[in-house]
Amino acid sequence: MSARPVYLNGEWCDTATAQVSVFDRGYLFGDGVYEVIPAFDGQLFGLEPHMDRLSRSLREIGISEPLARQDWQEIFDRLLEDYAGRDAAIYLQVTRGAPVPRDHAWPDPPTAPGVMATVSPIGAHSDGARAITLPDQRWGRCDIKTINLLPNTMARQRAVEQGVDEAILVRDGLVIEGSATNLFAVIGGRLVTAPTGPQMLAGITRGLLIDLVRREGLVEVDESFITVSALRGADEVFLTSSTKDLWPVLEIDGEPVGQGKGAGRPGPVTRHLDGHFQQLKQSQRRPA
Ligand SMILES: Cc1ncc(COP(=O)(O)O)c(C=O)c1O
Repeated sequence: MSARPVYLNGEWCDTATAQVSVFDRGYLFGDGVYEVIPAFDGQLFGLEPHMDRLSRSLREIGISEPLARQDWQEIFDRLLEDYAGRDAAIYLQVTRGAPVPRDHAWPDPPTAPGVMATVSPIGAHSDGARAITLPDQRWGRCDIKTINLLPNTMARQRAVEQGVDEAILVRDGLVIEGSATNLFAVIGGRLVTAPTGPQMLAGITRGLLIDLVRREGLVEVDESFITVSALRGADEVFLTSSTKDLWPVLEIDGEPVGQGKGAGRPGPVTRHLDGHFQQLKQSQRRPA
């Protein structure tokens, strides 16, 4: 991998030279939050909701805002300088800083937050995902976009070891979300997705899609939980995330999604909604 630019605590360096303190609480405790913001053809998409979610995550774990939005914008502009004509994802994270010595309790007075931002190309993904269901082993505040992602990484690893793309997390028999995606099912002509709350991350793609679908009256949206058996009987299932948009799920636990001739293929509602979502992305591009 060639070196990429990194903004780190007020300095510019690159992925080969960037160094953080061994006392950084992100490194020691996973004590921090992050965002992934997509940029299509060099232009950020959904910036405001992503920054709003960052502010909320920081507030929820008691870290003060390290930078004004204008400062973030200048960092993003510099990171995206070489990305005209390409799709990229900004990764940023803010930790509670690097107080010495290590102590579970938060530093008082607070230390300067650790701030990092970098950029990577968004790679292509397959036309359809295969998934497995797994018990959700995460904590009770999955609404906070914390860097503490061990249960998510373990679930994704289980999926990879079983030769599939994503793990669908299930709590008390109810479908919550994917390890790094939100989940939608088409059931009896309605679009169903789990409601936001402490059990899941309110994905920005999820929110933008629901707003779009309601605004344009595309299909009825039902934000309620479904059981695993309802998921298995769904007509269509797709995942959403900032780097994958709408990603049809073709197979769950080895069984094709949907019935009849279209089973195991991207369904008509998914394709229709994806068309509208792509138009939304286009419409938000600034003219060159
Ligand atoms: C657990 C989880 N759910 C959902 C999502 C999708 O969120 P977004 O659409 O904001 O990328 C992510 C993204 O990383 C995630 O980690």
